[in-house]
Amino acid sequence: MSKYQSVRGTRDLLPALKKVFRQIDEIAYKTARNYGFNEIETPIFEFSDVFHRSLGETSDAVSKETYTFTDRGGDSITLRPEGTAGVVRSFVSEGLAQHLPLKLYYYGPMFRYERPQKGRYRQFYQFGVEMLGLETPLADIECLDLAWTIIKKLNLSERCILEINTLGDTESRADYRKALIDFLTPLKFQLSPDSQVRLEKNPMRILDSKDEGDRKLLADAPLMENFLNEKSKDFFTKVIAGLKHLNIPFKLNPKLVRGLDYYCHTVFEFTTTELGAQGAILSGGRYDGLVEMLGGPKTAGVGWAAGVDRLADLCEKSLPASTEDILFGFAAIGPNAELEALQLASALTAKNKKCISFHTGNLKKKLEKISKLTNDAENVYAILLFDQNDGSIEYKIKNFKTGEEKTATKQDILSL
Ligand code: HAM
Repeated sequence: MSKYQSVRGTRDLLPALKKVFRQIDEIAYKTARNYGFNEIETPIFEFSDVFHRSLGETSDAVSKETYTFTDRGGDSITLRPEGTAGVVRSFVSEGLAQHLPLKLYYYGPMFRYERPQKGRYRQFYQFGVEMLGLETPLADIECLDLAWTIIKKLNLSERCILEINTLGDTESRADYRKALIDFLTPLKFQLSPDSQVRLEKNPMRILDSKDEGDRKLLADAPLMENFLNEKSKDFFTKVIAGLKHLNIPFKLNPKLVRGLDYYCHTVFEFTTTELGAQGAILSGGRYDGLVEMLGGPKTAGVGWAAGVDRLADLCEKSLPASTEDILFGFAAIGPNAELEALQLASALTAKNKKCISFHTGNLKKKLEKISKLTNDAENVYAILLFDQNDGSIEYKIKNFKTGEEKTATKQDILSL
């Protein structure tokens, strides 16, 4: 065994798994483009402040999980733990406000120093979307509809459920926060150590606690829904009406608060019971204050990100098989034939045909390998080339579906 292993929490996406990732990305990209979204790519690292300000100092993502280092110029740099903060930073620093509203999507690796387990990696991949400059609940509905369409295309609609809640606007949240502190303060020493810290810094995050003891204490906690002002209630009612109108199944989850600080109004997660503790496959919400927090003009925002690793683990076996229509397998015997085969394959690939060349083994071995290609394509043809004693080359084409084999000319092959 090599002394070099991949770093804990990272993994190699070997061809079979990478193929599933690619299929998911292509479905997600295509669907997002059909909804009028455009792709954006931001750097995988930013000044640490970008994440500290946007995700909140007390969020797990910032307080325990970032990969932060000082670069050679003395700047504090953080590998991005998520995509929203970078997109918003870009919106502000590139001065994109005159292009509002914006509908953007992105894909790429994210980094969190979490405890690795099934479905949880330290380098993982997100496909995400962000809508900027749209205050209307119609944006929340459209963004959820886009998520649902992608989930349906991945054949996952029966295997996950949308959980949704509202955190209300700033005023409602402040009232609720106070009620929650009043309720939890007398129970402080019964809370888990993490939640005791949160009680001081960000009490709403306690609602998210996975600790059994915390969960029991929270059973009688006040509910956000009783603290919503009229504006917040109206906003959420419209989002829910939209989900019903678009036939998107959902479950209200009054305890859903999400782990990042920037959310307001709508928050949601598509969850599955099939991945153990890491059940969230796609999550997001509204973040109307974030642009201002990063120094930009007041701008509404709503979006989500899907964990592509989790989607891949879930749909590895259920994705529609992607087979080629036609594949050409090249087998050549003899030095001239071998070079000629490469030239023919090159000419056919230039015409967008898929050609697989086999360079080792005798004719029998090569034909065996070509016959295996029938798992990947509807039609497989072997293109066979043989050096002749007089210096010429014999060409043959074998159709693996019908078994038919015939002698051909170079021109026949070039015009395939
Ligand atoms: P998040 O809930 O932190 O939200 O992450 C989104 C998704 O990324 C999760 O639902 C999960 O599927 C996946 N994920 C998170 N951590 C890991 C991990 N360690 N390993 C594998 N998958 C993981 C955000 O990141 C927000 N930026 C989403 C958003 C966009 N909100 C508004 N716009």
